[in-house]
Amino acid sequence: MVCPIEKIDCLICHAPNYKKTMSGPDPSIDATAAARNVRLPTRAMCLRCHATAGGGDNNKRGDLELAMGAANVSRDLDVHMSANMTCQNCHVFIDHHVSGRGMDLRVDDTDFPVTCDDRRCHGSEPHPDGSMYNKHTDRIYCTACHVTSYGKEQTVEISRNWETRHLEHLGANVMHHEMIVRESNPAPIHVWWNRWSEIMDLADPAVLDDDGVVVMAKPVGSINNSASKIYAARLHLGRQPWNGTYILPFKVMTVKTTDNMTQTIFDATGRIFDPVQYVDAKRYMGLFHGVSPKDEALTCTDCHKDHAVDFEALGYDVEEDASGNLISATKPGESLNLVNFPANGDTETCVCPDESAASTPGFGIIPALGGLMAVAYLLRRRN
Ligand code: HEC
Ligand code: HEC
Ligand code: HEC
Ligand code: HEC
Ligand code: HEC
Repeated sequence: MVCPIEKIDCLICHAPNYKKTMSGPDPSIDATAAARNVRLPTRAMCLRCHATAGGGDNNKRGDLELAMGAANVSRDLDVHMSANMTCQNCHVFIDHHVSGRGMDLRVDDTDFPVTCDDRRCHGSEPHPDGSMYNKHTDRIYCTACHVTSYGKEQTVEISRNWETRHLEHLGANVMHHEMIVRESNPAPIHVWWNRWSEIMDLADPAVLDDDGVVVMAKPVGSINNSASKIYAARLHLGRQPWNGTYILPFKVMTVKTTDNMTQTIFDATGRIFDPVQYVDAKRYMGLFHGVSPKDEALTCTDCHKDHAVDFEALGYDVEEDASGNLISATKPGESLNLVNFPANGDTETCVCPDESAASTPGFGIIPALGGLMAVAYLLRRRN
């Protein structure tokens, strides 16, 4: 995919201590000094735009925040950046076209894959030989186990409601802000993704999901589609003006200063909507940064006993007891129960196929053997 390079000021990626406005260098900085000091991009330079998408630090992504631009990043924040990797170490630039796209962006990519399991990086079996974690990488992408929280230093925006606005006095200025909910360190959700996405275009009629919520961006994929894997993701909710068919555009600053949504929609569309109708909208975003240290990664018990993945939402057939506890989760058409693997209440062990099953070529045939050959499996193998 292409960073729209023609439209970008070179110094924003190449100069330290640089700042720009909509029209050019910010008067508060010395642009000539910045231009004399150009160098290869640091994380801080890329984050000038990417951490502040959505109008503020970590508003949009949740896993790209300004703290990642510091010279020393902690391992807890991101293991790769703490090893001083730059953004372009993963996002290889080819003739100034950046590689890597993510789940919710519509643009084309370069041919260079940006993925953890690329053989130049970790490969698809990064764990010690025979590890059950390697057997999961067919259906579960690395981030599902290794990105365990986001909004780590700066809180992340969870929802933004344009219908309920509230007043804020800033000295003599009065602003009418949309209602924003933020969270610190939420856990990711998990979604199937086959690397295709449904992306809403404002020019097209809004598409409602099964829950009646307008889809802004959503991964394509499902339990029955063998090209799909389970990814770590986040869900951002919005409440937006629409006319019953189309999402309506408006200028954020005008609403904030005038509180007049009808006027600002009129400015953008030439049509009067009074009263303005609102609709719920949602956007799924993949989480690829903020990889946690390995001892935080999800383990067998996290998923198979404590159900850190929502088997039902992922499309497994589930059975619950009267109080809603999960009794079983099975893959449609298969019988192996994926919940409560730990045998005798001992959280250190869990039931899983023995060596011979683990060395069978297809993960898929394990259920047939699993019931017979279940043995205790030691969980804590970390050093
Ligand atoms: C989106 C960020 C970005 C913008 C904007 C950008 N660059 Fe770059 N540029 C990079 C990256 C990243 C590299 C390093 C590529 C690599 O490591 O292979 C680079 C490398 C370079 C190099 C060194 C090339 C080399 O082979 O050593 C030059 C020269 C350069 N850029 C000039 C420019 C000019 C001139 C502009 C404005 C027209 C510009 N860049 C805008 C990100 C950017
Ligand atoms: C001036 C702001 C700006 C800077 C600085 C910038 N980018 Fe971008 N970048 C963008 C925009 C805008 C897009 C297109 C986003 C979209 O389509 O939603 C983009 C796209 C991307 C994408 C593809 C995903 C996407 O959003 O489509 C990646 C990856 C990316 N940039 C990485 C980088 C890296 C690495 C650097 C630093 C070398 C960098 N960017 C610097 C604005 C910027
Ligand atoms: C360790 C590797 C790695 C590093 C370092 C890294 N990224 Fe990424 N990034 C990824 C992967 C993997 C994806 C998903 C790519 C895909 O699926 O197309 C991604 C996706 C993205 C996207 C697309 C939107 C999204 O998040 O889904 C943007 C923008 C981006 N990265 C920007 C950055 C910036 C800016 C930096 C530096 C602060 C950075 N990345 C550092 C691996 C990395
Ligand atoms: C089902 C969960 C799961 C999946 C999927 C998974 N991992 Fe892991 N990974 C773990 C756990 C738990 C650990 C720490 C314990 C261990 O190493 O056995 C770990 C450890 C690691 C380590 C450190 C290994 C070491 O010896 O220090 C790396 C690197 C790693 N994983 C990379 C990946 C990559 C890359 C992928 C995707 C191809 C991936 N993991 C997929 C759970 C997972
Ligand atoms: C991120 C959550 C997660 C973690 C961590 C995890 N699993 Fe799983 N496991 C799953 C899911 C989801 C499936 C079903 C995959 C599918 O649909 O094929 C599964 C399937 C299995 C299966 C059935 C294999 C089959 O053929 O369908 C076994 C056995 C298993 N896991 C054991 C383990 C063991 C042992 C560990 C620890 C080493 C572990 N799992 C860690 C989520 C997890």
